[in-house]
Amino acid sequence: MKEIDDFREAGKIAAKVREASKKLIMVDASLLDIAETIEQMIEEEGAKPAFPVNISINEIAAHYTPEYNCEKTLQEGDLVKIDLGVALNGALSDTAYTLDLSGSAEHFIKAAEDALNSAISSIKPGVSVGEVGGVIEDSIRKHNLKPIANLTGHQISSNSLHAGVELPNIKTNNPYRFKEGDVFAVEPFVTDGAGYVEDLEQVEIFALYAPGKIRLRQSRKIVEHVWSKYGFLPFAERWIRKEFKSKLLVSAALQELLETHTLRAYPVLREVEKGRVAQMEHTVLVTENGCEVLTK
Ligand code: CO
Repeated sequence: MKEIDDFREAGKIAAKVREASKKLIMVDASLLDIAETIEQMIEEEGAKPAFPVNISINEIAAHYTPEYNCEKTLQEGDLVKIDLGVALNGALSDTAYTLDLSGSAEHFIKAAEDALNSAISSIKPGVSVGEVGGVIEDSIRKHNLKPIANLTGHQISSNSLHAGVELPNIKTNNPYRFKEGDVFAVEPFVTDGAGYVEDLEQVEIFALYAPGKIRLRQSRKIVEHVWSKYGFLPFAERWIRKEFKSKLLVSAALQELLETHTLRAYPVLREVEKGRVAQMEHTVLVTENGCEVLTK
């Protein structure tokens, strides 16, 4: 099937870029450089980023991507999560890894890795997402760490990164059963904190949500631009600031687009007790008897 071929290809590209990107993760590296380089690597493969590259450090679990003028660099002691996605002809893939610049967090990474592998071994048609959540939770608790209960994996479909069904990282009663042909992002998050994340005020990632009543001309221009370039896929404020030169107008427009719910915001997520967080992620295709890792 043509569509499945595109999902396989999107997965292959994501895996290739993921592996190549690991050499960028070192002390003193600029976050902005890392994000832009990875996004460029995806484009060089003939694809597009499915969302802005997330670089989430230590107690930040997800949804941080550098600001347009970010001057931050990686520090000794950082636990660094890189989450990237590839879009190819509507097919999407999503993969993530964690690197430890501290020398003291290898067990976080091992726990996330084991949880991911256990989940992958247990996914097959007829098994419920709640059961797989239990497998992930048990695997993480064996390492004396906690799963993050309010972050989940997610079903993926053409042009839709979050296609309805969630794959929890804890045991739940969610009765949805995997079926052949389903594509899911599996992403265990582990922490030594409370096991929950909260929204910070900072938002760097947005996506089109629904048509709203817009007043500003600049807002309408941004909506047209986002729709034609990204559709419903997430985009970064820094992308828009590159594409629209006037800094002041972009700020006012994004503000209006959020207030009118034309855009949805993905706030930066932080572990509530500021525990350190590690994450591993693959995209899988459910097959007749199990699942195929598309981002291997
Ligand atoms: Co991801």
